[in-house]
Amino acid sequence: KNKYFGYIDLNNVSFSRLKSNKYKIMTPIKYKSNNLYVEGLSIEKLADDNQTPFYCYSEKYIEDQYQALKSAFDMEAKIFYSMKANSNLSILKLLLNKGSGIDVVSGGEIERALNAGATGKDIIYAGVGKTDEELTYAIKTKIHCINVESQSELTRINDICEKLNTKQNISLRVNPDVDAKTHVKITTGKAENKFGIEFDYIKSMYAIASELPNVNIIGISVHIGSQITNLKPFKKAFQIIYDLINDLRGLGHKIKHVDLGGGLGVTYSDDDNVPTFKEYASLIQSIFGNLNIEVYIEPGRLLVANSGLLVTRVVDIKTTSQKTFVIVDAAMNDFIRPTLYNSYHEILPVKNNLGTSNKLYDIVGPICETGDYFAKNRNMNSVQVGSLIAIKSVGAYGSVLSSNYNSRPQIAEIIVQNDKYEVIRERVEVKDILARERIANWL
Ligand code: LLP
Repeated sequence: KNKYFGYIDLNNVSFSRLKSNKYKIMTPIKYKSNNLYVEGLSIEKLADDNQTPFYCYSEKYIEDQYQALKSAFDMEAKIFYSMKANSNLSILKLLLNKGSGIDVVSGGEIERALNAGATGKDIIYAGVGKTDEELTYAIKTKIHCINVESQSELTRINDICEKLNTKQNISLRVNPDVDAKTHVKITTGKAENKFGIEFDYIKSMYAIASELPNVNIIGISVHIGSQITNLKPFKKAFQIIYDLINDLRGLGHKIKHVDLGGGLGVTYSDDDNVPTFKEYASLIQSIFGNLNIEVYIEPGRLLVANSGLLVTRVVDIKTTSQKTFVIVDAAMNDFIRPTLYNSYHEILPVKNNLGTSNKLYDIVGPICETGDYFAKNRNMNSVQVGSLIAIKSVGAYGSVLSSNYNSRPQIAEIIVQNDKYEVIRERVEVKDILARERIANWL
C-alpha cells in the first residue's frame, strides 16, 4: 500500500506492470456490489438528487495527487497549479489550502484565482497574447511573475509599469525547439509553435530586459506540451535550459528560479504507461539539483484528470445493420476531448448489473454533428434506456472546455468528500443564456 495514494489495489496490478514496477494507481472511483462509487458516495444517489449530465470530482484524489507530487521531490519544488485544467473555485481553494500556487493564462483566470483566496504572490502568468488590460490588471495585483513571450510584450510591460510607477518581476519563456511527442494540438515547444521566445534570440532578449528600468528579471521558463508520456523530451528540454541558465548567469543575469511548465501525462486506460512522479522528480533533481536555483512546476492535468467523472443517462439505444448507438444526454458541448483530440476515455455503467455484452457500442450525444461522440466500437457491459453511465478521467480539460452549443446549458459540477457532496457550480439554465441576448431595435 502506498502511503500517499492509498488506492493501489493489488488485484488490479497487471503482470506487465509488476514487471515494469509501475503500479496501477486506483482512483477513489470503484464498484461496491456492482454500484459505482466516488469515495463513499454512490453515483446513483448523486443522480437521484441532481439532474444529469453532471461532473463530479473526488476531493481526496486531488489532495493525494498534490501531496504525492510534492513528496516525490527531495529538493524544494514549488507547485503552481495550472488552473486552465479545471478552474472551479472549490478546486482552486482546496489546492491553495494545500500550499499550491496558481498558473494563470488570462485576466479572467487572475480574477478567479483571487476569488478563490489567492493573493498576487501566489500567481504566475503565462500566455502568448496578453492584452494591455490584462497586463495592467496583473501588475496592479502585484503577481509574483509574468512569463514573457515576446519583445513587444516585454516593452508593453515596462511601459505600463512606468505609468503605474512600479516594477514587475518577469521571466522569459524559452521555446527550446523540442518535440514533446504528444498530440499535435498540444505540442508547444517546437520552433514552429507560437509559444515562447525563439532560442536564438533569448540571450539578446535578456540583454534588452536588463536595460529596462521597470522590469525585474527573476527567472526563466519553459513548457513543451501536455500529456507527455515519456521523460525523454523533458530531459532534452531541461538540459537545454540548464546550459542556458549557466550562460545567462555568466552574462550577469540574476536567474533565481526555473519554471519547468507542466505537461506530465496521466493514464487514461490500464494500458497507458506514464513516468512516475518519482522518476519525473529525479530527472529534475539530477539536472537542477546543484544549480542553487528555485524550481517551479505548473502541472494541470496531473492533479485533477483522474478525480472526475461525467455522469450521463442513456436516452435511447439505436441498433442499425452496422452499429449499436448508445445515445446519452451529455454531448460534445459538455465534454469535447474525444472528438477534439481523439482521446480515449473509459466508460462504465453506473449499475453494473446487466452482465457482459457481446456488442460494440458507439456512445454518442444528441448534437447534430457526427463528431458528437464519446467512444466508438467500445466494448462495455450492457446498458439499457434509462441506465446511468460514467465517463472517466474528465477532471482536467472537461468542464472548462464546455460550451452552450445547440442551446444546451452548461452542466453542474459536484465535489465529493467521503459520503457527502456539494454542488460547486450550478447548472446554467436556458433562461440564463437568453438573458444575455437582445433582439436588435430595428427588427
Ligand atoms: N503551463 C503552460 C504554460 C501550459 O500551456 C499548460 C497547458 C500547462 C502548464 C499545464 O499542462 P498540463 O500539466 O495540464 O499538461 N486541452 C488539452 C490540453 C491543453 C494544455 C494547454 N496548456 C487537452 O484536453 O488535452
